[in-house]
Amino acid sequence: MQKIAIIGAGRVGEAAAQFIAQRDLTRELVLIDIREGAAEGCALDIQETAPLFGFDTHLRGGADPALMAGAGLVIITAGIPRKPGMSRSDVLDTNVGIIDGIVADIQKHAPQAILLVVSNPVDVLTWRAWRKSGWPRERVIGQAGVLDSSRMAAFVAMETGLCTCDIQAMVLGGHGDAMVPMLRYTTISGIPIAHFLDEETLARIVARTRQGGAEVLALRQNSSAYDAPGAAIAQMAEAMITDRKRVLPAIAILQGEYSYEEGAMGVPCVLGKNGVERIVELDLQTEEAAMFRRSMDAVLADIARLK
Ligand code: 2OP
Repeated sequence: MQKIAIIGAGRVGEAAAQFIAQRDLTRELVLIDIREGAAEGCALDIQETAPLFGFDTHLRGGADPALMAGAGLVIITAGIPRKPGMSRSDVLDTNVGIIDGIVADIQKHAPQAILLVVSNPVDVLTWRAWRKSGWPRERVIGQAGVLDSSRMAAFVAMETGLCTCDIQAMVLGGHGDAMVPMLRYTTISGIPIAHFLDEETLARIVARTRQGGAEVLALRQNSSAYDAPGAAIAQMAEAMITDRKRVLPAIAILQGEYSYEEGAMGVPCVLGKNGVERIVELDLQTEEAAMFRRSMDAVLADIARLK
């Protein structure tokens, strides 16, 4: 089993580490954080849950980037989080510097790894990490759609009162307010969602999905979401580490798909041991294509600021 490294032992990094450990995806999980003691304390705290959950993962933490040596998957959660009222793009200027430094560390210590970017704005930073690393696009991926789709599925369950395990939701696009919840591909046991909910309720679910992160932040005030993001990371990690060939929405570097020669966008991807093994191109209907374009425009505007 491949070693996994998580950069950033904040709440998202910690939740991801806990969920990954609980799934026993790896024998060796390291957490790295520049804050002295933060990653070490986090690793120890999670290690002490091993007897309770019955997992076998060995956790280590520290500030030294060399801890990631030999990792097959490196997950980047480091960066400043949003404060209430801030958009994801507002944190771009600070987080781009952080990502650049981390990519340099990864190139040095884990040059064969798959890179999973989580820090916000995740679409723009996935593009940046890909550009900076010079790695093939298969190995540089962003997490957003799994989280946004899980939120949407949870809202569908709340509105219908039906079992979450039967609900399939799909959210494409960037991870900003212009993300693209795909009602046409949202089903309950394969039955289109429109069979269960009226247009007004569906519109409410779409709006709530787009504001999913902001809603949790507004309630908590002092923290963004971390449980659902951590679980989403663990699901993507599992797909790649165990080579499951799952079809999951992920931020991928587009090179011609969906009519974009370059950019980073949430699209359905086949995830396996090589990272993004295939991008699934959907035939978008007129309104969906317009939403996709709007989302891409927002991401491309931020990318242009970095060029
Ligand atoms: C979220 O959507 C913080 O982007 C993260 O919760």
